[in-house]
Amino acid sequence: MNILGIETSCDETSGAVLCDGNVSSNVVSSQLCHTSFGGVVPELASREHERLIVSIIDTAITEANITKNELDVIAATAGPGLIGAVMVGLCFAQGLAYALGVPFVPVNHIEAHIFSPFIHEGSGHNAPEGAYVSLTVSGGHTLLSTVAPDLSYKVIGRTLDDAAGEAFDKTGKMLGLPYPAGPVIDKLAQKGDPTFHLFPRALTSQSQSSKSWHGNFDFSFSGLKTSVLTWLQKQSPEFIERHQADIAASIQAAIVGVLVEKSIAAARSRNVMAVSIAGGVSANSALRKAMQEACDKEGMALHLPAVTYSTDNAAMIATLAWLKLSRGMQAERNYNVAPYASFAAGTKKAGLK
Ligand code: KG4
Ligand code: ZN
Repeated sequence: MNILGIETSCDETSGAVLCDGNVSSNVVSSQLCHTSFGGVVPELASREHERLIVSIIDTAITEANITKNELDVIAATAGPGLIGAVMVGLCFAQGLAYALGVPFVPVNHIEAHIFSPFIHEGSGHNAPEGAYVSLTVSGGHTLLSTVAPDLSYKVIGRTLDDAAGEAFDKTGKMLGLPYPAGPVIDKLAQKGDPTFHLFPRALTSQSQSSKSWHGNFDFSFSGLKTSVLTWLQKQSPEFIERHQADIAASIQAAIVGVLVEKSIAAARSRNVMAVSIAGGVSANSALRKAMQEACDKEGMALHLPAVTYSTDNAAMIATLAWLKLSRGMQAERNYNVAPYASFAAGTKKAGLK
């Protein structure tokens, strides 16, 4: 079965072809037009997707060594995301499916991130073998869920304010770093001292204000943002410039510390012996290392997506469509864009309504 996946929820235009569950191509174009604005401009994102989508999809099909007539299924992100951006990919996908007379599968972007550690590239496997705790950390979401092998999942924690990626991007902006600051902080922090300044870790064992953090799997990053801002305001520009790498490493340590502590506590509390990290922030080298060390200490397995599949990509969209179809879930022809997907606590099956 050849599945074409399409992803346009934010500022990456991506097309991928999955042949019998294996990635045959994954083409990603990251939009550079937002850099000078310090964040993604929704209207510019939609226009850029529209400009690029035909050539990206053509390239994905060519790189997979097939023709469009050999596609069996078209899958696309249906939300959550920027409504105009999602609509470009979704309308294109539904139009193509209609023209080719093949089924269309709408995919929830965050669910696709959750299962991205199982993207198959000729080795590995397409399905989780046992239950695991998933930490999904992107620019817009921070979720802790328990995931069962039948693809059902239950959200047990979420951010009360900013997402982890947002915490990287916004504190990085305060440090004068370009958007998106997450990967820049990651690189800069490698030359810095993570113990240079102790920034707050809300709702954890380190937090003074939270007496009963045990069993609280929610996150909060707005206090960290305020703390970085007020602390920077007290420092001279020369000091900030001289210690930019140390400050970046200290901010990163605060975010990573919270993410690791909560994930391990959640796995322990649910008697689950495996953890996964997914979403753009899972590309972070310090998070990968700290989570690996914590899992090793606990005797837990760690499922990680390849760094290319941490950030937005269409291979994860095609993979979730494959997982759904291979479990007998039905494809459909028409689907409306869902800019806000609900992740209410309660068990949900990926893509099942
Ligand atoms: O999943 P993603 O590509 O898009 C969304 O669905 O939001 O995540 C983007 C987020 C941005 O906030 C970006 O700064 C962050 O992921 N990110 C990183 C790294 N690479 C991307 N954060 C920290 N370290 C990285 N290496
Ligand atoms: Zn994403």
